[in-house]
Amino acid sequence: MKNYLYTFGLTLCSCALIVSCAKEQPTYKLSSPDQATTLEFSLTESGAPQYKVSHNGTSVLEPSLLGFEFEDLKSMTDGFEIISSEEHSADTSWEQPWGEFKTIRDHHNELVVHLKETEGEQRLMDLKFRLFDDGLGFRYAFPKQEHMDSVKISNELTQFTFPQNHDVWWIPVHAENSYYESLYKKSPMNTTDTINTPATFETKDGLYLALHEANLTDFASMTLLKSKDNQYESDLVPWANGVKVYAQTPFETPWRTLIIGEQPGDLVTSTLMLNLNEPSKIEDLSWIKPSKYIGIWWGMHLDKYSWGQGDKHGATTENTKKYIDFAAKHGLDGVLVEGWNLGWDGDWTADGRAFSFTQPYPDFDIEAIGEYAAMNNVRLIGHHETAGAAKHYEDQLEDAFKLYNRIGVNAVKTGYVNKYLDKKEWHDGQYGVRHYRKVIETAAKYHIMIDNHEPVKGTGLQRTYPNLMTQEGGRGQEYNAWSADGGNPPEHTTILPFTRMLSGPMDFTPGNFDFSYETPNKAMVPTTLAKQLALYVTMFSPLQMASDLPENYESKPAFQFIKDVPEIWSETVVPNAEIGKYVTMARKDWNSLDWYLGAITNADARQLQVPLTFLDENTSYTAQIYEDGEGANYKSNPYPINITTKTVDRNTTLELNLAAGGGTAIRFTPITE
Ligand code: NOJ
Repeated sequence: MKNYLYTFGLTLCSCALIVSCAKEQPTYKLSSPDQATTLEFSLTESGAPQYKVSHNGTSVLEPSLLGFEFEDLKSMTDGFEIISSEEHSADTSWEQPWGEFKTIRDHHNELVVHLKETEGEQRLMDLKFRLFDDGLGFRYAFPKQEHMDSVKISNELTQFTFPQNHDVWWIPVHAENSYYESLYKKSPMNTTDTINTPATFETKDGLYLALHEANLTDFASMTLLKSKDNQYESDLVPWANGVKVYAQTPFETPWRTLIIGEQPGDLVTSTLMLNLNEPSKIEDLSWIKPSKYIGIWWGMHLDKYSWGQGDKHGATTENTKKYIDFAAKHGLDGVLVEGWNLGWDGDWTADGRAFSFTQPYPDFDIEAIGEYAAMNNVRLIGHHETAGAAKHYEDQLEDAFKLYNRIGVNAVKTGYVNKYLDKKEWHDGQYGVRHYRKVIETAAKYHIMIDNHEPVKGTGLQRTYPNLMTQEGGRGQEYNAWSADGGNPPEHTTILPFTRMLSGPMDFTPGNFDFSYETPNKAMVPTTLAKQLALYVTMFSPLQMASDLPENYESKPAFQFIKDVPEIWSETVVPNAEIGKYVTMARKDWNSLDWYLGAITNADARQLQVPLTFLDENTSYTAQIYEDGEGANYKSNPYPINITTKTVDRNTTLELNLAAGGGTAIRFTPITE
């Protein structure tokens, strides 16, 4: 017998490794700690690795093949035998420096299968599966070995075979743009083509599944190619020359992840992706500070200001000081200033090589502004738009961060507005993955947090680099200023929590208070005022913006909610949700006993009953409620808002009345005798 059977005796954990030998092909079985999810791994008759997944007896993934193809090397797709296996289990907890949960439990069972080709060069490939109660992660590992050193991967052939043609929430790959700024659609799988992850499935059996990846390190992003009506196959984003990944043994792929939920909210509260990343590489985290900011920003998108020089230049010393005064007066921590540096004049998107990241425009006195901000206890938030000129940016990286560090800037928003990096590489290929990592690591050296726009999708790297605070990677509020299609439709923000947000925090930039602006495209913010507030709870970002012009907040009672609402949370629950229709989230403040609730709806008005069972026991709370007022609706009357208070506790059920495109935001403060 082969030695895989010996591993049977090593089983110490609660999961059951069952080895059966139908047709001489052993099947390995692994269960999640709660036993609800089961993974089976086996080899086909031709020695091709395959896996399948079920949840409470329902098939989630049917047998799906695993393998790799290389340039100039025989593919590793079949002809394998299992030489040994290992099984491990873990049940630990770890603390986040910031997040949607303070403590995360890492409770999983793991199966590692060591494969060897039976003939030829007898190359080695391992598969590692981890089952959590919230789903599956698996990755390939290629050990150091005699006949495999440097490789050029031409294809990853991981299949995801569903039992049926389910509905999927998806965005296209590199279609409208190359940084995920598309509207999600729900379609039967068989009508899609190549889609991005996270891709979220509503199954015919009532399950909610999401395919994505974790710990994308020195590899290409995985997109999903529809290979059959009920099947996707991993499709790695290539380099310009067609190679997918350059690697050298030993190496591991990112984790391929599958969240399995019984409710839409289970996707939101899943911690699988974070658990599959490495602990922090940054030891001193004292300089990492979640915060709220305003910016010389919306004005550019409304064409009130310009990035480049001229009469409308937004980033002037005088204007920046005004923004700093406003932030100081209202207790906001940061002021973002875009268009402060040389390189914006003319069509800045065409060629980013004009950008200097150390030379300010003459009307922006960076030293004086740095001092003024410090005097007012406000941080300047830096801005590095590259227009995709990644190499040019890398050449200046050290000097750029050194400058910002010297004048007290501890967060920088980066940007890559261009279809390609350096004119030919994708943002989400291995080239981009390497570039973004270099920026995060260099920023950490200078104690700078990163807010990355036009990024490669998030894969939980904020666990390893907690200075990677937030990213764009989706259609944010800015589309409501200028988008040719009129802006983000009302359902957009009821879809994002179950799709884009599964890849990590988003710098969506909520907080629009003025709905009267006019732009050539007639774009608009398609929400009520109350919904803008609720977005601070439903859209997680540890750097959270108040997006509107300061003058639009002055003397508005609803602004109090933006001032109060925290950016980070010790707990998160989802009392109710239907993807694309409505969602209610409740979150506990990281630093106090307060709870917050945000409920939002699509274009339809609706009434939601929300039992407040998430509130702490034996505690009464004052609920400050910001809800849509009489006649409010996103189309013609966004402003009416009622601000009321009520005493509640965990036995209370609140009735929320959301206007069309509306929402409710609530702060719950414990009443102390
Ligand atoms: C696109 C970003 O998303 C936006 O926030 C920024 O203002 C512009 N690029 C300019 O950098």
